[in-house]
Amino acid sequence: MRLLGYSGLNHDSAVALLEDGKLVFACESEKIRRAKHEVSPFPDQAVRRLLSVTGLDLGDIDAFAVNYDAGILANWGYLPHLWACLRQRNADLGIIANSFIISASHSRTLIHYTLSGPIPPIRRVRHHLAHLASTFLYSTFDKAAVAVIDASGELDCTTTYRCVGRTIKRLSAMTLPTDSLGSVYMMATRHLGYRLIGDEYKVMGLASFGEADPVFRRFFQELIVLEDEGRYRVNPRLAGRMASSGCQFPEAVANRLGGRHTSGPEVFTEAHKSFARELQRRIEEAILHVIRHLRKVSGCRHLCLAGGVALNSVANGRLKAESGFEDIFVPPAPHDAGTSIGAAAYLHYYEDGLARPEPLNHAYLGQSFSEDAIEAEIRRCGLAVCRLADPAQEAARRLVQGEVIGWFQGASEFGPRALGNRSILADPRTPEMKDQVNRRIKEREGYRPFAPSVLEEAAEAYFPGLGSSPYMLFVVPASDKARAEIPAVVHIDGTARPQIVSAEVNPLYHCLISYFAETTGVPAVLNTSFNVAGEPIVNTPADAIRCFFGSGLDALVMGPFLLEKSR
Ligand SMILES: [Fe+2]
Repeated sequence: MRLLGYSGLNHDSAVALLEDGKLVFACESEKIRRAKHEVSPFPDQAVRRLLSVTGLDLGDIDAFAVNYDAGILANWGYLPHLWACLRQRNADLGIIANSFIISASHSRTLIHYTLSGPIPPIRRVRHHLAHLASTFLYSTFDKAAVAVIDASGELDCTTTYRCVGRTIKRLSAMTLPTDSLGSVYMMATRHLGYRLIGDEYKVMGLASFGEADPVFRRFFQELIVLEDEGRYRVNPRLAGRMASSGCQFPEAVANRLGGRHTSGPEVFTEAHKSFARELQRRIEEAILHVIRHLRKVSGCRHLCLAGGVALNSVANGRLKAESGFEDIFVPPAPHDAGTSIGAAAYLHYYEDGLARPEPLNHAYLGQSFSEDAIEAEIRRCGLAVCRLADPAQEAARRLVQGEVIGWFQGASEFGPRALGNRSILADPRTPEMKDQVNRRIKEREGYRPFAPSVLEEAAEAYFPGLGSSPYMLFVVPASDKARAEIPAVVHIDGTARPQIVSAEVNPLYHCLISYFAETTGVPAVLNTSFNVAGEPIVNTPADAIRCFFGSGLDALVMGPFLLEKSR
């Protein structure tokens, strides 16, 4: 049974192939189309790439698994939504219009315009169930509480569940038109002058620089009201018509907050930083409120998280420390891209009754390239071919010397984090390295932090109590040792967002960090995604070579080959 899962129309399109319960490929469409956070009706290029990489054609696919079930006939839930809109005098019908468009885009007729060949049956999965499956079914837990928190899917914004075997019990739901924590974050992100989609993590980074502010504090407490039974509601008077306003605060509210920021990120005032801080604080409080209650009513010791808000690694770190759950699984792509693997898994396990998919223990699910293919691309670009006897050792040697290098190995990561296969690496031992990489290589805002990749064997000394964290999705306090030894990857508030690297999951990357540790005594490197500002992470050798020559990188180690600019 081959299920091709995809997330489409909305932001963060992606495709995935689940073959007899085994996830054999998953990749965001933006990495293939080279357009960050692309929005397209159907990720046709990504589907074609998936087919060419796996050697299949459309006739080999048993079904398309889609991450929405937004059709009006399949969705009587729109009636209560209409009623809620009327009751709140909130004529935000943009939400329903959206759903119609999403629904129409997943039709065979429209897909026929972009793909030639026999279109397999299109099977729809409700958005939050696709998110649920993307986390629970790929975890190692037989029984877990699940929380999905995003902007919205059909009508749901935050849903919680108790999952045991094949049984899903829905415990709570906060829904449109306004009760969306994801949309609140998006509105605040826009208020600060950032893009609507994909810049939320910049606000999260900015929040650490802000001071407490009683005015903004009160505003966000009025905006997100915590209620009994682990519920919250978003004040419609302050939020306005989220969908039809393009996720902007109403004019009067924006003015109360000091006006919309339009001057660009490098001219943030103290007030902007405090605004970000109080937003982040309230979102964390709301999430903790929902999840602590979930711990109580579910009776489960384990939590699985998904939805775009699960990319808020600061909130995830607090959940780890304060929610009462013993263990928390967040998949490498908890946002909408992950619903591609979730929709396929949902159909496979829950609807078709087949065996549960294998747990996910790595994110290296994208395209990989043979040595021959890499060498051919280097030659095609007219560059000298230099083969290394030990690429990991050479990369580590260069890092020790202060070089910043591109590191391109194996299959690309699924999800927004580079985890040692499409990474830019640097020496984390001096604080200046952060500014150097920010300005010289990434061309991005100076306040944004970098993350460390740390050897599993040494992680406890640097990040006590963290345990496993393979996908860089938990921000945790750094130990005194970490602050002293790897200051380039410790944020201003003394926290970090580490990737814990095990030899079993990524032996080559583990080997590189081990070489670095042998020379320096420090078992960690600075790891940031292999791209420059505004571009998706590199996917192919051609992308990597272009990014290498278009940035201030000193060297590129790609497979066993070394590229330098002087050659
Ligand atoms: Fe979502």
